[in-house]
Amino acid sequence: MNGITFKYLILTLLFNILSANKVKDGNFTPIVMWHGMGDSCCFSFSLGAVKQKLEELLPGVHVVSLRIGTSEVNDVENGYFLHPDKQINMACNLIQADPLLSDGFNAIGFSQGAQFLRGLLQRCPKAHIKNLISLGGQHQGVYGLPNCGSLSHSICDYIRRLLNHAAYLEWVQKALVQATYWHDPLHEQEYKNYSTFLSDINNEITINTEYVQRLQTLDNFVLVKFDNDTIVEPRETEWFGFYKPGQSSVIQNLKESPIYTEDRLGLRKLDEDSKLHFLGVIGNHLQFEWGWFQENILDSYLKN
Ligand SMILES: *[C@@H]1O[C@H](CO)[C@@H](O)[C@H](O)[C@H]1NC(C)=O
Ligand SMILES: *[C@@H]1O[C@H](CO)[C@@H](O)[C@H](O)[C@H]1NC(C)=O
Repeated sequence: MNGITFKYLILTLLFNILSANKVKDGNFTPIVMWHGMGDSCCFSFSLGAVKQKLEELLPGVHVVSLRIGTSEVNDVENGYFLHPDKQINMACNLIQADPLLSDGFNAIGFSQGAQFLRGLLQRCPKAHIKNLISLGGQHQGVYGLPNCGSLSHSICDYIRRLLNHAAYLEWVQKALVQATYWHDPLHEQEYKNYSTFLSDINNEITINTEYVQRLQTLDNFVLVKFDNDTIVEPRETEWFGFYKPGQSSVIQNLKESPIYTEDRLGLRKLDEDSKLHFLGVIGNHLQFEWGWFQENILDSYLKN
């Protein structure tokens, strides 16, 4: 091999390494997804397909669908039985361990995964979220569980009874994820005192200024509500609305609620800075068309 061929080989090699890196880095901000109740990181009929679609629409993008647990089955179980505090710690560690996420990422939360991603943002300094997309998230909790996802009927009935009658007992809060964002408007003060997750991340009792500051680091917080949602009660929680305390029919929207009027969480500031967006989409829970997603979410928030 003569000198020129050798130099040529080295140059080719260098070029390949550089271009491989370029492809790996991609031109798009990485995306982290968090699945909903009864789902897992990777089922081919749900988030597995979403990941594939995002990779197709944003060539070279790094997409991480968080698996909370040791396997997909464990991930599904943890969606019902592992306290959100622990889930958020696990997610924080996963993000910290991924060097491709260290410069920030966009995040898409599906259903309860949306309030967990917000918890992650508020609690995990390593999670530099740029645009936070909440698809059918329950930011003011739920008061009703008409569907338990993949759980059997008898277990679902048992869970419903627990939520209706004992959601704020300490052992129920520890044992059942959905109890931690159960919001009983007839017992508003009990919710504030004894919810071990939602009441905390919503600054109901005390104001955690760290939470307020972390929320301000977002470029955009996008709240998507499914107009015909029959799974989430009330569906206005997807826009931070909820039943007015003391009854369960009249809705108080975000701007009428203390969390906004007292700006307990920094949402009003976000809104005033035009970083808070309310999108409505016709359809049942998490039912959307890719055309809608592309036009309203991908083009506006994922092409940075
Ligand atoms: C909630 O906590 C406050 C302060 O500790 C207490 O005064 C109040 O009685 C509690 N309310 C309920 C319903 O437990
Ligand atoms: C879905 O919700 C929209 C907006 O509230 C409403 O106009 C429409 O009739 C609903 N569609 C169905 C099938 O319920």
